[in-house]
Amino acid sequence: MRKKVIAGNWKMNMLPNETIEYIENLSKLVKNSENEVILCVPYVDLFYALLIAQNTNIKIGAQNMHFEEKGAYTGEVSAKMLKSINVEYVIIGHSERRQYFNETDETVNKKVKAAFENGLKPIVCVGETLEEREEGKTADKITMQTELALKDLTPEQVQNTIIAYEPIWAIGTGKTATSEDANNSIKEIRKKIAEIYGQNIAQRVIIQYGGSVKSKNAKELFNMSDIDGGLVGGASLDPQEFSKIVNFNEN
Ligand code: 13P
Repeated sequence: MRKKVIAGNWKMNMLPNETIEYIENLSKLVKNSENEVILCVPYVDLFYALLIAQNTNIKIGAQNMHFEEKGAYTGEVSAKMLKSINVEYVIIGHSERRQYFNETDETVNKKVKAAFENGLKPIVCVGETLEEREEGKTADKITMQTELALKDLTPEQVQNTIIAYEPIWAIGTGKTATSEDANNSIKEIRKKIAEIYGQNIAQRVIIQYGGSVKSKNAKELFNMSDIDGGLVGGASLDPQEFSKIVNFNEN
C-alpha cells in the first residue's frame, strides 16, 4: 500500500526566526504521525529548517531549482547546492512558476532529471486552468504534463517521483475539487503512467492533491482510493492547522 505524504508549500512566506518557532511547534504535534511530513520552504529558510528538523520526522524541501549544476545564472540555485546542505525534496513546475516565471514542460523535465542526478526527490506539479476544465480538457492537459515531465526517466526514477495534482482554479481560492473529481483526475494520471511504464510502477507512484486543502476537507480527500496525501499552501502556514491535516486519520 502507498503511504500518505503531506507536504506544506510555504511559497514566499516565513522568515528564518518564524521558521524555527514553527518547526519547534509542528514537530511536537506530528511526532507520532504514520504519514510522511515535508515542508517546502524559501531558500533563505532552508538551513534553519534543516537544523531544527534534525531528529524529527519532518523532511525539508525547496520550492524550485535550476537544471544546470553551476554557472552564470544570476539569482539561481542548483540541485547540487540544495543537496550539499541535505535538502531532500524539491517542488518542480508549480503552476505559479509556470504562470509567472516562464516554466515550461521542457524546463520541468530538465529539472526533474537534474534533481534525480543529484539525489533530490522531485514533487512535480500538474493541473488544469478553469478554462481547460470547462472545455473538458482536464485529462488531456494533466496527462500530457505528466508524460512530458517524466520523459526519459528510468522506471526507478518514475517510481520515486511525487506528483501533485493541483487544479489551478482551486489554488488559494477556497474552492476545492470534489473528492471524486480529484480522485478521477489522479486516476487519469496513474493510468497514463501505467501506459508508459507499466501498472507495477504506476501503482507505486505517490500522487497528491493540492488546492485549498484544509483540516476540514483533508480527511475526505486523503481517504479516496488514489489520493496519496496533499500539497498544502495557505493552510500549511499555521502549525496547528497543518498538524491537523498531517494527522487527518486521527481526527
Ligand atoms: P493553497 O493550499 O493555498 O490553495 O495552495 C495550494 C498550492 O499551490 C500548494 O502548492
